Formats: sequence, structure tokens, C-alpha cells
Amino acid sequence: MTQTLLTPVRLGALELKNRVVMAPLTRCRCDNPGFVPNDIMVRYYAQRAGAGLIISEGTIVSPQGRGYPLTPGIWSEAQVAGWRQVTDAVHAADGRIVCQLWHCGRLSLPEFHEGRPPVAPSAINPNWKMFSLTGQPDTVTPHALSRDEIREVVADFRRAAANAMAAGFDGVEIHSSNGYLFHQFFSPLANRREDEYGGSHENRARLFFEVLDAVGEVMPLDRVGFRLNPMMNRFHGVAVDEDTVPMWSYVVEHANAYGLAYLHLTEPFLPNQLDDTPGGLADVGAHFRPLAKMPLIANGGLDQARAEARLNAGLCDAVAFGTAWIANPDLVERFRQGAPLNTPDRDTFYQGGEKGYLDYPTLAA
Ligand SMILES: Cc1cc2nc3c(=O)[nH]c(=O)nc-3n(C[C@H](O)[C@H](O)[C@H](O)COP(=O)(O)O)c2cc1C
Repeated sequence: MTQTLLTPVRLGALELKNRVVMAPLTRCRCDNPGFVPNDIMVRYYAQRAGAGLIISEGTIVSPQGRGYPLTPGIWSEAQVAGWRQVTDAVHAADGRIVCQLWHCGRLSLPEFHEGRPPVAPSAINPNWKMFSLTGQPDTVTPHALSRDEIREVVADFRRAAANAMAAGFDGVEIHSSNGYLFHQFFSPLANRREDEYGGSHENRARLFFEVLDAVGEVMPLDRVGFRLNPMMNRFHGVAVDEDTVPMWSYVVEHANAYGLAYLHLTEPFLPNQLDDTPGGLADVGAHFRPLAKMPLIANGGLDQARAEARLNAGLCDAVAFGTAWIANPDLVERFRQGAPLNTPDRDTFYQGGEKGYLDYPTLAA
């Protein structure tokens, strides 16, 4: 019997040869001062071109958006040229790839900003531990963005989207989740602003929609997706409360007017993410499916059988896998054959050069 996972699907203007999406995965392999995608990244993505759609690792829209070491950017000409090598290699192997556009906001460290604090909606320390090449420093109190600085953030996303198209990507995904900049604006734990960017749902979502408007000036919106992980709880300085589902429902319903390629929706995948939290959702997809008038990619702790069941229940149009793609460059072929999966090595998720990056065996190997 044909697996639904292996059938083609259209997400906006994106034509996928199957519904097995590669989730965005930061791998910290970009080891040069210009944050330019390098040769091992070209090979890594080309190995995974069997995916119906690759969503790139989080890609920094501006120097201000950095939050981790060894992550690539998409603000300079050299970065565009580096990404062009990646997109050419993926397309040559009949794959599709979109660029995940990322701004870390307050989840960052002064060492990435020449000693200055990172930026955020309000000057509230997330009290989190970050990663640097020298250890796990604590976060600091960020600088609250002025309105003029917010306009610059919007312009940075516009340039990043234009650059992504120039680099040959099939589209972009806005990383509006996981405690990073947009999530910081959505969350009252990070956003205490008293201007038009704080307070009501409309105000807290304003930056996100200004960015969508700006991105729409430089590329077709049916090539733009966005990512939400509403149930991320007590992690990265954000938490779930009774306002979370209404807030994120507002974002999804308002986004319906934009004609976007997809909503990428993550189920809780971290341990103890919800336990008895009031306002929590046991099934994120079931709540948002009827609200979202656009294709939906499900993600988070799904295996082949559960992914297939969610597709067949009509809860999503495609499924993104994260860790499974790290360890299985031929994941789609393994699903086709019902073959066992390689086990991911967590020690090399964020470091290790080619080890744990290019050397996972394929079935044919
Ligand atoms: C090593 C690693 C890096 C990740 N990097 C990103 C990222 O850059 N952007 C993002 O939105 N999510 C990121 N995630 C989250 C994954 O996209 C995905 O949501 C998560 O792994 C759950 O899916 P899974 O259960 O199929 O692995 C990362 C996860 C892992 C394990």
C-alpha cells in the first residue's frame, strides 16, 4: 500500500516530491569569520536532497541576530554565494530547500556583539544559559529595541529574504518561535512594552506582520512559511499560560490573509514541557488545523507510523523530522523500504566537523 508520506504535495508555490520534510537543524559547522556556508555544508545538504523539502538550519539575518557560534548568515554577498553552492547541489539532486530566517534577540551573548548586550522587546534577562566556544555563559539583560531599531530589524528581514532568493532558495521560513525574537515579542515574559509593540495581541504580533509585509515586497508570499511552537514551556525564557493559545491563535488567524506557503507547527518535544500547566494544549495540530487556512507541516517527536497516522487523519499536509534526518541522510528511502534507522549521536549535534555530520551510512553503503 502506498504510504501517504511518500506522495507528492503542494505547499503554496512549493512542489514537494514527498511529504517527508527535513526540519531546521542548527549544526554549528560554519567555521569561518564571515559566517559563509562551507563545503561540508554543501555536501551535508546534498546528501539529504531526498526530502520533499529541506528547511535550512537557522540562518542569521544580520550580525545583531546572532546568538550562537558557528551559525551561517544571509546578509552579505559572500554568504549569498556560499548558499548558492548549497542550493545548486540540492537542486542538482532533485531536492527543494527553503532558508530559515533567524534573529535570536535576547537569547544571545555580548561576546557575539563586540561586548554590547543583545537586543529584545524589553530589558528583561531571560536567565538562561547559552553556548559559546568557551563554555555556557549566562544571558544578560538585553537592550530594549527603540522604534527606529525595530524598523531596522524589519529591513534586515527584507534584505535576508531578497538574499535568499538571490542565493537560489525555493523560499524562506520565518523562525517565529522557540523563544527567539518574534516569540519574545509574543510573550508577556519578555515583552512589557507600552508602545504599539506591547500589550494587546495585535501589538505583540505587530513586528511579525511588519516583517511578513516587508518580505512580501521582495518575494512571492506563497514561497514563505513560518514556524510556531506554542507549547514551548519554561524553556529559553518563555512559558505557557492562559493567554498563550489565544495569542498564537490570533497570529495564525491573522496570517491567513497572506496566502503563505505553510504553517510549520511543532508539538511539545522536550521532556516535561507541559505537565499540568494551565492553558496547555495536548495536541497542538488538532487545535490549529481548523484555524489555519494554509498547508500545515507537523513536527515534534513523530516517527514514521505516527506521521503517517496524522497525515491520514487529515491533521497535516507534510511532516518534518529533526533528529531522524541528522542520522539518516536517506530517510525517505528507509521509510519506503521500512528499513531500520541509524541512531543519532548527540555529542556531535553541535560540533565535530565532518564527524556525526557527513558520515552516517546510507542503506546502499
Ligand atoms: C541539533 C538540533 C538543532 C536544531 N536547530 C533548530 C533550528 O535551527 N531552528 C529551529 O526552528 N529548530 C531547530 N531545532 C528543532 C528541530 O527543528 C525540531 O523541531 C526538533 O528536533 C523536534 O523534531 P524531532 O522530534 O523530529 O527531532 C533543532 C533541534 C536539534 C535537535
